[in-house]
Amino acid sequence: MTTDKLYKQRLYPLDEWRIIEEKFDVESNYLDETIFSLGNGYIGMRGNFEEGYYGPEGTSLEGTYLNGFYESHPIKYGEEAYGYAKKSQTMLNVTNSKIIKLYIDGEEFNMFTGNILSYNRTLDMKEGVLTRKIVWETSARKRVQIVIKRVVSLENKHLAAINYEVTPLNFNGEITIISALDGEVKNQVSNGDPRVGSALNEQVLKILSKHQEKSFGAITQKTTNTEFVLVCAMENDLQTESNYRLEDSPSQMVRAKYIIDAKEGERIVLKKYITYYTSKDYPTYELLSRAKETLLQAKKNGFEKILISQREFLEDFWKQACIEIKGDKALQQGIRYNQYQLLQSVGRDGKTNIAAKGLTGEGYEGHYFWDTEIYILPFFLYTYPEISRKLLEYRYRILDKARQRAREMAHEKGALYPWRTIDGEECSAYYPAGTAQYHINADIIYALKKYVEVTGDVEFLLDFGAEILFETARLWADLGSYIPKKNNKFCIDCVTGPDEYTAIVNNNCYTNYMAKMHLEYAYDIAKLLKEKYKEKYIELAKKICLQEEEVNEWKRAANNMYLPYDEELKIHPQDDSFLEKPIWDFENTPSEKYPLLLHYHPLVIYRHQVCKQADVLMALFLLGDKFTLEEKKRDFDYYEPITTHDSSLSSCIFSIIASEIGYYEKAYNYFMQTARIDLDNYHNNSQHGIHTACMAGTWMCVVNGFAGMRVYDGNLRFNPYLPEKWDSYKFRIRFKECQIEVKVDSAGVNYKLIDGNSLEFYHGNQKVNLKKGQEICLDIQK
Ligand code: BGC
Repeated sequence: MTTDKLYKQRLYPLDEWRIIEEKFDVESNYLDETIFSLGNGYIGMRGNFEEGYYGPEGTSLEGTYLNGFYESHPIKYGEEAYGYAKKSQTMLNVTNSKIIKLYIDGEEFNMFTGNILSYNRTLDMKEGVLTRKIVWETSARKRVQIVIKRVVSLENKHLAAINYEVTPLNFNGEITIISALDGEVKNQVSNGDPRVGSALNEQVLKILSKHQEKSFGAITQKTTNTEFVLVCAMENDLQTESNYRLEDSPSQMVRAKYIIDAKEGERIVLKKYITYYTSKDYPTYELLSRAKETLLQAKKNGFEKILISQREFLEDFWKQACIEIKGDKALQQGIRYNQYQLLQSVGRDGKTNIAAKGLTGEGYEGHYFWDTEIYILPFFLYTYPEISRKLLEYRYRILDKARQRAREMAHEKGALYPWRTIDGEECSAYYPAGTAQYHINADIIYALKKYVEVTGDVEFLLDFGAEILFETARLWADLGSYIPKKNNKFCIDCVTGPDEYTAIVNNNCYTNYMAKMHLEYAYDIAKLLKEKYKEKYIELAKKICLQEEEVNEWKRAANNMYLPYDEELKIHPQDDSFLEKPIWDFENTPSEKYPLLLHYHPLVIYRHQVCKQADVLMALFLLGDKFTLEEKKRDFDYYEPITTHDSSLSSCIFSIIASEIGYYEKAYNYFMQTARIDLDNYHNNSQHGIHTACMAGTWMCVVNGFAGMRVYDGNLRFNPYLPEKWDSYKFRIRFKECQIEVKVDSAGVNYKLIDGNSLEFYHGNQKVNLKKGQEICLDIQK
């Protein structure tokens, strides 16, 4: 496939720090709700309107989510087999707390009544605030200005707030404002597209109790099967010079109703503080009191305080993470948006992770995949290492479940991580593109290894990492075999690699290379522990009953790993049978038949040479020092024409390798497909949620692609070039105790040590040593 479909029409004006919508559009509403989502890694709120939505069916999804809060159901199979994943886990659409309704003379404000005289919605990525400004005219021509600011606190995971201002422009009279919580919420049903929603078609969050006391309201709910309890509460604070009365009006919802004698030109401000607490974090009996306490504190501090902390948090975030591009506003906006959404989506409490669609929609049911370790974690590792540690802590938390899964899969020892999950259990109902992706174990270890190399956090390795490492290494030892027909090489059969258009194969190239890395690392760390941290080693070996022979076997398996190579084509075959299949008939496949997964039975796809996403190329990137540049070129040339990029995880990897082998135009074009993936709805499904892996892929395209950053054997390397269309680009990287700023422009590459005493790194083949505060400008070597 060629990269001819560059990004589509821009829907939002180009602005470096803001996403702006100047006109409400029913047709793009569903998508806009995703784009204007707010989150803090725990609470996620789609960009739904406070007043509700009254447009045509199918043009909206009301959604609020809590990371890691899910319902589970037995998965129904037509035909059962041993070891299939038993239960689903679906991130729940929870209590809707955004509701604020406005009435003038009994006429309800919404985007479909009266006249909208002006409209603007802006997401400000420096401020962390979503603002909507409207001038609305009732059918009796009474006009009000409405300004609504919404925040989901980045500082306090339990807190969100709305500042709702109404000013009568041409009348004195009664205005009613109702602030409510609605517990009658349901999830979206998938209707055949596996990427959209779940099988939960009824309300699973049962209401246990409602509390209403003046400006305070709360709903306590409980999930049916998982029996998690949730409290959602609000505290309202009306600020106005006008007279008003407050009624708690009985209804299905919990609501505080304000009836105000409004005066022309006099502002009425309702400050609504919102909180969520669940039994996943605290004992049930504490939830309500914690919710009250959070709201009390928030009300006391005021809305402005949340805005300040939001600004401060983001100031620091952008200082660490920002990629600055001069010469293309659209890309700058896209990259910034991607980074912003990653921050909003990532769980930072060590108990949760980052879902494929973040906290912005129900696609992939809120599951965590390998997307985390291979795509998203690197972005945080080099900018906010504390967050990457939290993501790895999550894997430690679910290690016991991975051990159980290994037993179910007939391994007497070791751990097998689930392909997709929320709480640690395997949730993938389609095992050929699920459980069969054993590479998840090596992906986690790849991230762990990089984490330790880059941060030097040996403590984490000793306390948690080594246990994950050894337990997962055991799995490869048990899974593979020395096959006489393959020269007694160590082979790994019946697995699926990253490319989901090829399943259940022998010796998937990526898997074998990654397993080799994994086993070698496990052996090396075991050796390190024995030599330097003997007590820790003995303690751990005892805990997991690790035998010396096992450790030696890891080394033997790694040394003898079968690494596929085709002498004739001089490429790495994706697996043993890949090159023996016919190539997919691309010429006669019309564009409406993509993505293929929605139009062909899996078997039809599996029997051809056609890739959904980077597979061999992924190995070329992650283990780049194991391959020559010539090999990378030949593999790229072979796999590019047969890859559809039907997965949004693909283009960035092609871009990075294209950069490395000097295919600069292709590198740029592939990069373009990632940079505005959701803003331009590139895959036509952003309405169901953002694409977090691809968003992080944008960062990788710049840092690993254009700037050629790699860490090989613990050494930091750059090899930057400047894309033709840009004037310059700049980013910062944390490495060990240091932070370095890299700026590339037509004059060359400028490296500056921002933090830390001294840093040694490579610029191409040249060794460079920078001392604190020093900078150096070097020629571009490519
Ligand atoms: C991709 C997987 C990915 C999943 C979630 C699928 O379409 O093929 O590699 O993990 O989406 O993003």
